[in-house]
Amino acid sequence: MITINENYLKLNASYLFSEIAKRVASFQKSNPSKEIIKFGIGDVTRALPKVCIEAFHKATDEMASEASFHGYGDEQGYAFLREKIAQWDYQAHGADISADEVFVSDGAKCDTGNFQELFSQTLSIALPDPVYPVYVDTNVMAGRTGEFTQGRYGGLTYLECNRDNGFVPKVPETKVDCVYLCFPNNPTGAVITRDQLTQWVDYARRNKALLLYDAAYVAFIRDPKLPLSIFEIPGARDVAVEFRSYSKTAGFTGTRCAYTVIPKSCIAYDAKGNGHALHKLWHRRHTTKFNGVCYMVQRAAEAIYSEEGQRQVTETIDYYLRNANLIRKELSALGFSCTGGENAPYVWVDAQTDSWKFFDMLLEKAGVVCTPGAGFGKCGEGFVRMSAFNSYENVRKGLERLGKALQR
Ligand code: MLT
Repeated sequence: MITINENYLKLNASYLFSEIAKRVASFQKSNPSKEIIKFGIGDVTRALPKVCIEAFHKATDEMASEASFHGYGDEQGYAFLREKIAQWDYQAHGADISADEVFVSDGAKCDTGNFQELFSQTLSIALPDPVYPVYVDTNVMAGRTGEFTQGRYGGLTYLECNRDNGFVPKVPETKVDCVYLCFPNNPTGAVITRDQLTQWVDYARRNKALLLYDAAYVAFIRDPKLPLSIFEIPGARDVAVEFRSYSKTAGFTGTRCAYTVIPKSCIAYDAKGNGHALHKLWHRRHTTKFNGVCYMVQRAAEAIYSEEGQRQVTETIDYYLRNANLIRKELSALGFSCTGGENAPYVWVDAQTDSWKFFDMLLEKAGVVCTPGAGFGKCGEGFVRMSAFNSYENVRKGLERLGKALQR
């Protein structure tokens, strides 16, 4: 008899964004002429930067002739891309990372979701609440949690994020083995200061713990005082892994390219207390289960690492930040308390009511889609997340409709 991994039965029936898509599709079916404006899933809407398109075309042409054709690529990703990442994204900001510590992949969602495979079943895990659901769900699937009761899985340590702590989780008093952090934060748009990040690195060093640092939204940081990478913090090389993505940075949500940085000095332990380099374990996993990102996509990603490439990327991010600013300003004017939207594409709004009810009300009355905060955890209840990924015109139109709907 074929039997299932019963841990899957502990999960909510559908993934947060699938549930939203289902409700939106059903609304659209009953209201076929209604134009829906989406502030929901963080999916980019601007075209790829011109430099990426040019690189794409050139690389595609190379595939047309045997002399320049590419089959399987380098195991960790092409060196031309990894070298640029190490120089531009790390060394240029004082972070000591080399090209052979970078693993190119097809998404930070896959990498943050898959990384837990390297760890023991008994690992104690802490994660912020609210949180990007992938970190939680993949550990549920792996059997590291108990049942879901009263909005939480047994066995996980939830680090509550609220207005009092500025939506930045405090270092726990208890000892945990692994902590997921995401800054700029999804869903709250909160950012972490250098001092706060240093406290986390010190905590991990004291406890032989590991920090899984998701920096997928780093391109939105405009405040020069904020750290861009956890590896700017002294000592982080031994206790942290960083995930980044071109999805939001360069509009690659449909193109797929990301990377994970694992310093060679980052160690995890076996049951006898012997240290093992995570780099080596991930390399083994990556080369067994993954065959790389296509050559053209890696060339397109590489294209952002030039003066012109950076200019184009900055222009696109500025466009979304202008949207975020407007969302924050208009919602604040309507009397909602908002976080984020300044160094992040997400605005976290205190809806002052049940977040799914608010979601349904906005959809029904305004044809506007947001993401209910409850989908990100218990502490997200009462909030909604508004994403800035849309055209400026749609953002204005959506906010106007939202204002009217709320006045009624
Ligand atoms: C989000 O809306 O939270 C993200 O777009 C989802 C993702 O990147 O997987």
